[in-house]
Amino acid sequence: MLCVRAMTSPSLSHRALKTPPSPIRRLAGLAQEASQRGIKVHRLNIGQPDVESPQEFLDGVAGYREKVVAYEASQGSQRLLDSWCRSLNRDYAIGATPSQMLITMGASEALIFAFMVCCDPGDEILIFDPTYANYIGFSAISGVRLVPLPCSIESNFAIPSREEIERYISPYTRAILVCNPNNPTGTVASDGELEMLIAVARERDLFLIMDETYREFVYDGLRPRCIFELAPKDPRIIVVDSLSKRFSLCGARIGCLLTWHEELRKAAFHIAQARLSAPSIEQAAAAHMLDTLGPLYLGAAHAEYRARRDVAVRALSRIPDVRTYAPQGGFYLLAKLPVGDAEDFATFMLTEFSFQGATTFVAPAAGFYMRQGGGKSTIRIAFVLNQADTEQAIAVLAEGLRAYQERRAGRPADSL
Ligand SMILES: Cc1ncc(COP(=O)(O)O)c(C=O)c1O
Repeated sequence: MLCVRAMTSPSLSHRALKTPPSPIRRLAGLAQEASQRGIKVHRLNIGQPDVESPQEFLDGVAGYREKVVAYEASQGSQRLLDSWCRSLNRDYAIGATPSQMLITMGASEALIFAFMVCCDPGDEILIFDPTYANYIGFSAISGVRLVPLPCSIESNFAIPSREEIERYISPYTRAILVCNPNNPTGTVASDGELEMLIAVARERDLFLIMDETYREFVYDGLRPRCIFELAPKDPRIIVVDSLSKRFSLCGARIGCLLTWHEELRKAAFHIAQARLSAPSIEQAAAAHMLDTLGPLYLGAAHAEYRARRDVAVRALSRIPDVRTYAPQGGFYLLAKLPVGDAEDFATFMLTEFSFQGATTFVAPAAGFYMRQGGGKSTIRIAFVLNQADTEQAIAVLAEGLRAYQERRAGRPADSL
């Protein structure tokens, strides 16, 4: 009897049970097994750039001279706050000062803070669907309900009209969350769309949470936009920012939250105090980097991503019955495949297929859709590999698609 008791345990919270696994990482174990079988896995599944991090950041790490790696201030190191504001004001002239900024552990933590301070459990945030999958995780953690507004590949995932957005606003709506440029669609909001969103937020008394993690990565002559250029110092806007993608510093875990809402910033600061601080060495290195890095690094990274986008779109459009588009920003795109279930196809690629010793790892897009059944035939591709590898990865994908279709049609495929 005693033994049976020891085997049972209390049930977990609803929050724990509702927090989904990351769709980006879900198939990672299968990819690892494929690598262990000696197969080269082209990883188009995750936004981990292969662009080298700036030497200035690494010099900053090497130059850390403190004898004790102490906690930093909860709002962030003064030096990084100063450097980041200076760099934002140089590029966007928004008049930011350190008293509007809070340094966080990546944009991820800034988003969790924003959800926590804008909403009580049960409150709603409008998002555009498909969406960055981790927003779903953040909503589960904070008890916030995400309300998805459908966007479609037929309109290149454009932001819905004002009328459509207003139809989804309820008495529980507290905020609209916009990822601009968008992950996973690559959509970039026009100034007109941003102004419309600002107007809706003002008229319906909502917060506007802007995730600007990919801000500088816009193509086709578009100019990067910080929303505060269009609505200077508007206290209902919260900008979430990150060094992860811009400077290929995903592992440094440095982001920030920027707001002119004094009470909101204070509330976020109180949460920040509870988690003590963001990493000290990385903040010191990030400040050194922002103070010393010239424009060449970002210019080169931007040109490289644009070239990779072009390679990816060209290679995908050569595959019969694949539907895609040229995203105007970020480094992702969605592609609709001639398959019934993209997750089954992605699994097939990792478990049953190889072509000349290689396979391609793609993210099934269903995990980015909140709509039931959304994205079932769609994959997300991150164009984070160099141009030759991107080209090669998509050639392997095309072979895999052919083999998958033949296999599903009951015929053996010669590349299996
Ligand atoms: C849209 C978006 N927001 C936030 C994040 C999280 O970024 P960070 O590494 O700064 O936490 C990511 C990471 O992929 C992202 O794509």
